[in-house]
Amino acid sequence: MSVDLDKCFEVVMELAKAGGKIIRERIYNKKTVNTKSDRIDLVTETDQEVEKMLISNLQAQFPDHRFIGEESTAEGIPCELTDAPTWIIDPIDGTMNFVHGYPNVCTSIGFTVNKITEIAIIYNPVLEQMFTARRGQGAKLNGEPIHVSGEKELKQALLGLECGTTHEAEKMSNNFKNQQTFTPIVHGTRSSGSAAIDMAMVAMGGSDAYFEFGIHAWDYAAGDLLVREAGGVCLDPEGGPLDLLARRMLCAASMELAQEMIPKISQIYPPRD
Ligand code: IPD
Repeated sequence: MSVDLDKCFEVVMELAKAGGKIIRERIYNKKTVNTKSDRIDLVTETDQEVEKMLISNLQAQFPDHRFIGEESTAEGIPCELTDAPTWIIDPIDGTMNFVHGYPNVCTSIGFTVNKITEIAIIYNPVLEQMFTARRGQGAKLNGEPIHVSGEKELKQALLGLECGTTHEAEKMSNNFKNQQTFTPIVHGTRSSGSAAIDMAMVAMGGSDAYFEFGIHAWDYAAGDLLVREAGGVCLDPEGGPLDLLARRMLCAASMELAQEMIPKISQIYPPRD
């Protein structure tokens, strides 16, 4: 199947902007909030509406394409990554931020063909930050090229660390362990509350590294291409190749920085998607 990547990029940019308008208009309003796997794993009607809008419009333009969507998966649609052209969608990454009116929210969309990510969009409509990448063509913020910091030393690094959206004991204690290990070494740690934004920060050189366990393809597919196109690295936190369904991700501004981090990271192995 031949895929017109230029057309895909044009179409998805317009749809991301349309979804972003809905998110921007509602972020400071009262929401109807439901829970999914945990009492802090939240979903609003806006997450569901934006995902449905993105998928139905992409489906109308590209009837042969497949989809992995955060909210469709929550509703029971299997999360399957095949060689077919596939859109991997998180309508609102940072749902808890959206619920509270904390403006670190984005729509994250990755597009794969033969399991290779070709297009990345991470759009924060509240702060008007549109991060984009095409494979082999570099990474951009609002149309201007961006680059990772290139930082090589952990002791000089600003590190993204997240608490995630679960109070599950193993994950929480592993987070605390990693916080205890890394906080005394690095310059500082930051949590944006959105995996995709944490990755976009590494891509634009605002931070130097970020890792998390338990996230999903819709949280990191777009960020993976964005960081690599900005000159950084994305790996499994043990050092092997990144696996979009393994729910484990490390990105860094240089291979040297990733290699310094890997032996220090306390690892967990969440069930695969
Ligand atoms: C969550 C955010 C958060 C990360 C969680 C994710 P969601 O995604 O990316 O930063 O720590 O692991 O589940 O639920 O807001 O789409």
